[in-house]
Amino acid sequence: MIAPLPVGATIGILGNGQLGRMLAEAAARLGFDVSVYGPEPDSPASRVVALEVRADYTDLDAVIAWGKACDVVTYEFENVPVATAQALIDAGVLVRPGAKPLEMAQDRVIEKTFLKQCGIPTADFAGIGAASEIETPLNQFGGKGILKTRRDGYDGKGQVRLVAGDDFEEAHHALAYAPAILEAFIPFEKEVSVLIARGADGETRVWDIPENGHVNGILRTSTVPAEVTESTSQETKRAAKALAEALDYIGVLALEFFVLENGDVVANEFAPRVHNSGHWTPEACATGQFEQHIRAVAGWPLGLVTRYHDVVMENLLGDEILSTDQRLAAGEIVTLYGKREAKPGRKMGHSVRRLT
Ligand SMILES: Nc1ncnc2c1ncn2[C@@H]1O[C@H](COP(=O)(O)OP(=O)(O)O)[C@@H](O)[C@H]1O
Ligand SMILES: [Mg+2]
Repeated sequence: MIAPLPVGATIGILGNGQLGRMLAEAAARLGFDVSVYGPEPDSPASRVVALEVRADYTDLDAVIAWGKACDVVTYEFENVPVATAQALIDAGVLVRPGAKPLEMAQDRVIEKTFLKQCGIPTADFAGIGAASEIETPLNQFGGKGILKTRRDGYDGKGQVRLVAGDDFEEAHHALAYAPAILEAFIPFEKEVSVLIARGADGETRVWDIPENGHVNGILRTSTVPAEVTESTSQETKRAAKALAEALDYIGVLALEFFVLENGDVVANEFAPRVHNSGHWTPEACATGQFEQHIRAVAGWPLGLVTRYHDVVMENLLGDEILSTDQRLAAGEIVTLYGKREAKPGRKMGHSVRRLT
């Protein structure tokens, strides 16, 4: 057991987007120094921390020198190369939650195989290397599926819906012939996610589960509490615990689910980091996901996840950020990420409305 970090220790964050920014703010409030590492100039996180190294994730000399100056290193981006996390660990840097969660989350075939090993149900799936390999599993899946790139997909990018008889060559071409996964299409009634924190001592805390509305593959709203039965909710929490244990996880992770009409749940994917569908937690609960993640990686005691409000969290995409004034006037709690340019569909901020 590694001793808890002292007050004033330095927490390193790989990745410098909005999640890094919100983690840094939470860490600062607990008295930590924060250093961020990432390739992007003028990033959301870099502008709220005093220490920044701007370099590529694959620059191992730079990342190890940076990591050695931190007391613990965590990540806010699930596509940090596994080799980078492993190089830090091999150099004696404390990396929480380690390299394995990255390895299990970065490739959809590995991810779904691992979820199944943990006893968590997923959609049926098949690895696809060429368009000719699509027809047989698609027919087995009842003729409806989704072809996704195995790696690097986010916000619904790198996905094509398929039905029997479609032009599979064209579909694989749309994914630039990348290695792919074919998943059975799940006729879900709703989508929920579960956010779990696991401390350095193995203790877990699970927040109430949000119901998530996606449009074009991008999260638009998370509503809490989700309207699901107690047994559905318990099943998502059981699965999250099993996953966190299997990864020997330290920090916050999110597991996304489809809920079927009969209340059964099917896991979709997990994120080894704080998650957009947990952005309501600081405004609704005793402890929010960002502070909880920092407490966990610092080896500090986890906070209570008691929820005080029913809430709706809305993402502000692109120029929806222009609605900030009205939202503030209406009593919403707005968080903006400080991104310089409001490109269409880009996550610029989010707003939390308390319903109770
Ligand atoms: N197998 C599936 N069946 C039905 N809908 C799906 C399936 N996979 C993904 N989707 C829909 O697409 C959205 C984005 O897919 P996801 O796998 O979560 O990719 P991303 O990494 O882009 O978030 C999901 O939230 C869901 O709405
Ligand atoms: Mg997703």
